[in-house]
Amino acid sequence: MPKWLKDAVFYEIYPQSFKDSNGDGIGDFNGIIEKLDYIKGLGCNAIWMNPCYDSPFRDAGYDVRDYKKTAARYGSNEDLVNLFEEVHKRDMHILLDLVPGHTSEEHEWFRQSQKVEQNEYSERYIWTNDWFQSPKGMNYVAGESERNGVYVLNFFKCQPALNYGFLNPVETWQKSVSDPACIATREALKDIMRFWLDQGCDGFRVDMADSLVKNDDEKKSGTSMIWKDVRNMLDESYPEAALVSEWNRPYLAIPAGFHMDFCLDWTGNCYNLLMRNVEDGKNNSIFSKDSDRSILDFLGEYMESYEKIKKEGHYCLITGNHDTIRAAHFLDERELKLAYAFLFTMPGNPFIYYGDEIGMRYLPLATKEGGYVRTGSRTPMQWDDTKNHGFSAAMQDALYLPVDTREDAPTVSGQEKDADSLLHVVKDVLAIRNSENALRENDNLSVVYAKEKERCFAYRRGDLFMCVNPSGEEAVLSAKALPQGGEKLYEIGSVTYQEEKYNMGPQSFAIWKI
Ligand code: NOJ
Repeated sequence: MPKWLKDAVFYEIYPQSFKDSNGDGIGDFNGIIEKLDYIKGLGCNAIWMNPCYDSPFRDAGYDVRDYKKTAARYGSNEDLVNLFEEVHKRDMHILLDLVPGHTSEEHEWFRQSQKVEQNEYSERYIWTNDWFQSPKGMNYVAGESERNGVYVLNFFKCQPALNYGFLNPVETWQKSVSDPACIATREALKDIMRFWLDQGCDGFRVDMADSLVKNDDEKKSGTSMIWKDVRNMLDESYPEAALVSEWNRPYLAIPAGFHMDFCLDWTGNCYNLLMRNVEDGKNNSIFSKDSDRSILDFLGEYMESYEKIKKEGHYCLITGNHDTIRAAHFLDERELKLAYAFLFTMPGNPFIYYGDEIGMRYLPLATKEGGYVRTGSRTPMQWDDTKNHGFSAAMQDALYLPVDTREDAPTVSGQEKDADSLLHVVKDVLAIRNSENALRENDNLSVVYAKEKERCFAYRRGDLFMCVNPSGEEAVLSAKALPQGGEKLYEIGSVTYQEEKYNMGPQSFAIWKI
């Protein structure tokens, strides 16, 4: 495990929308550099940046045309290397987004592989032997190439699947994982990773990490074998490089070689229940004031995964990401404060999606770059009250996406001035996380108080004790296992300890040192 990960708090940047330094209406690397001190000031010391490679942008850059070249709209390769250096100067780290499962249909490898003549890239993607063959259970495209075959997709139509092989090939066109063509794909992936690591990137967030080997078994044995091979390379040559998977199966991802895995937002899963659970048109999330959900609805699934991997890897909680509807769409400011205080005091590395620290809202917008419903969570960062909220000097209609122009749109500068703002809660809780070792150990979470039909949750990490009451009603915590008082380090609302009981005010949270 890279040493720096123990203390890492991540900030996710969607580069299109973070900060435009040259007035063309879209964010760029130099804009990010301008804001590194702000990110550090939040209490974050690491960055995950969404794809920034050359791309036709039919899926916001997850359709890579050239893995080794940056998209001109963000700056040159030299500008990106400069960003790495500026990050490191501040004792921070940065992960690029690695898209291993597919490329853009405009990638040169794919262009070559579409040709009738056999060449180095003929088997780089998954092709059938004949134009009239349908790959069972997979999305595919027929009739677009001179080559006599159809090709398999990994996501959108513009994203043909790279060929890492099939766990148990059954058709003649299906290659095994150890076929030289599939090994060549894997080596090409490692080559891309080395290319950026050599220039100073600190690791990768891995897109659809479980999607490499086709017809894989439930344990993802084939795909895991590939990641173990990648991890061996890292351990040997880049021991400080970090890998975080988009997988949501830490008990598979961590043994496969990832250092961290994300808890993702899937309808009805444990993470979704925290902030985004709508039932019959009503928000019934664990952190919504009026819900009837107990934290147990989260803990069941979460703890099972956490317990399995807590010694080897991190299971990370996010405020949101570029694929989720912003949390502020579901929760008001007070509810967000409690939810974040909880997220940032749990194990794993916290990930803050840009703008979530001020409760940026979701805008109902037409789709942009394959975003569809996700587009409204990708709008320009709201820095201040100047033109375009300080995101860009461009004319409004030249902006990548419209800014939130509502009167009460939150901004960084507005919340910096307001001691009671969400931004201050984020900074305060992260400051405690960054100064208390117990919050950075990964394997020390124990549940102290969680009951069916009750809203309060109390948990311990080393010498720290946290309790949260998401409901609008007062509550009293009394149980033998509760620690007997201590020093209160932080509170939202009112939490007091008296006569072996914790009195929790409506919508309250506290951290105690015991
Ligand atoms: C997951 C990414 O987070 C998402 O934004 C993208 O559209 C798909 N993978 C395809 O790469």
